[in-house]
Amino acid sequence: MNKKAMVITYGCQMNVNDSAKIKAQLTKQGYEITENLKDSDLVFINTCTVREGASKKVYGKLGELKTLKKTKKDMIVGVTGCLAQEKKDEILKRAPHVNLVLGNQNIYQIPEYLSKLENDEIKHVVLVDNEDELPPRLDADFDSNFSGCVSITYGCDNFCTYCIVPYVRGRERSVPVKDIITDINNLLKKGYKEIILLGQNVNSYGKGLTNGENFAKLLKEISKIEGKFRLRFMSPHPKDFTDDVIESIIADERISRNIHLPLQAGSTSVLKKMNRGYTKEDYLKLVEKLRSKIKNIALTTDIIVGFPYETEEDFKDTLDVVEKARYENAYMFMYSKRDETPAATMEKQVSEAEKKDRLQRLIEVQTRITKEESNKYLNKEIEILVEGLSPRNKEMYIGRTDSNKVVIFKGDETLIGKFATVKINEANTWTLYGELI
Ligand code: 5AD
Ligand code: SF4
Repeated sequence: MNKKAMVITYGCQMNVNDSAKIKAQLTKQGYEITENLKDSDLVFINTCTVREGASKKVYGKLGELKTLKKTKKDMIVGVTGCLAQEKKDEILKRAPHVNLVLGNQNIYQIPEYLSKLENDEIKHVVLVDNEDELPPRLDADFDSNFSGCVSITYGCDNFCTYCIVPYVRGRERSVPVKDIITDINNLLKKGYKEIILLGQNVNSYGKGLTNGENFAKLLKEISKIEGKFRLRFMSPHPKDFTDDVIESIIADERISRNIHLPLQAGSTSVLKKMNRGYTKEDYLKLVEKLRSKIKNIALTTDIIVGFPYETEEDFKDTLDVVEKARYENAYMFMYSKRDETPAATMEKQVSEAEKKDRLQRLIEVQTRITKEESNKYLNKEIEILVEGLSPRNKEMYIGRTDSNKVVIFKGDETLIGKFATVKINEANTWTLYGELI
């Protein structure tokens, strides 16, 4: 009987991508991937530490595994991801039942150390390298057969003052263009229809490469690839959104018009304390430019409320930008103190009650705008990429527009992984309903 392995992923798309690589390696080692914890001979937790809640969830899951390991003594438990990178010693102290702690840069070493653990040559391994080099290229088993990710940069040099990422993911480094093109071509050859370029700050791509590469040129190079596919990228930084990037997007309609443009805060004084490198006015000007130049653009964003020193007036600036930018969707967070980051020791921390209240008010405003923006799809004929059966209603299928809106429609399984056109006849806040035409 095959040994079974489960990979549990917390956090961002970067982690989802690393988990796909971990799964591919475990499969090569003879493991069958399962979604059932109790069946597993090996459990890998890919962790996140960007907010306190994310770390808490990891320790909660490790507690659950401790109980499970009492009845399954041979179970191997591995931890990787940003929490492993940040707190490698603390993890083993708090959870001695963990066998393998691996840094983000070390996941290629899984086969080597797994064999040693399986053969009882060792009980615990901690391998956490500093993140300063490009990790070796690894195959990935994505959950989807038609949507795949390609990392184009690793690490971040921006040091936004609230953010732990530069401390755990190291200095920014770019993957050479030819490797990115090879990865994309491989995915397209396998029938993938959506490619997502990943990086903490994709539009500063090229830093450190010697031949003057930049993100606009990379997009142009990818545009030379023939065939029908969708290209997305996550996330660009407003301060690096140059005109030539806009030109590259305009020139290729396969590049998604859903631009994720993290705002973080609307007040210039808070943005300055966050070290974001733009003002409220710069940001709004950029939004205006993007809207005027790129037809059918669908903006989404990330916002933090309750950053230290944020006053009611500052918060109103955030609401003001939200009203003006009219995002189709936003990821909204309460500021969460992270050790080592400059914001953690800033005076004038905002109270939890105030943060909660602001988050609630922000969500209310954004939800109204999301609904209003959703109505714009009514009666339109739109191309979607079909993902599969709807999890809620098994007779219906689910697809996504180029703008990343979910569409539910009556279809059939031959459409999965293909493009189809639907007419939208109902629009809820998060979901559109349509019929095939
Ligand atoms: N507190 C709250 N949100 C944070 N983010 C990053 N660090 C923190 C923090 N300390 C948010 C930012 C970022 C997203 C991935 O997570 O909005 O864009
Ligand atoms: Fe964190 Fe800022 Fe880098 Fe994004 S750009 S990963 S928020 S430091």
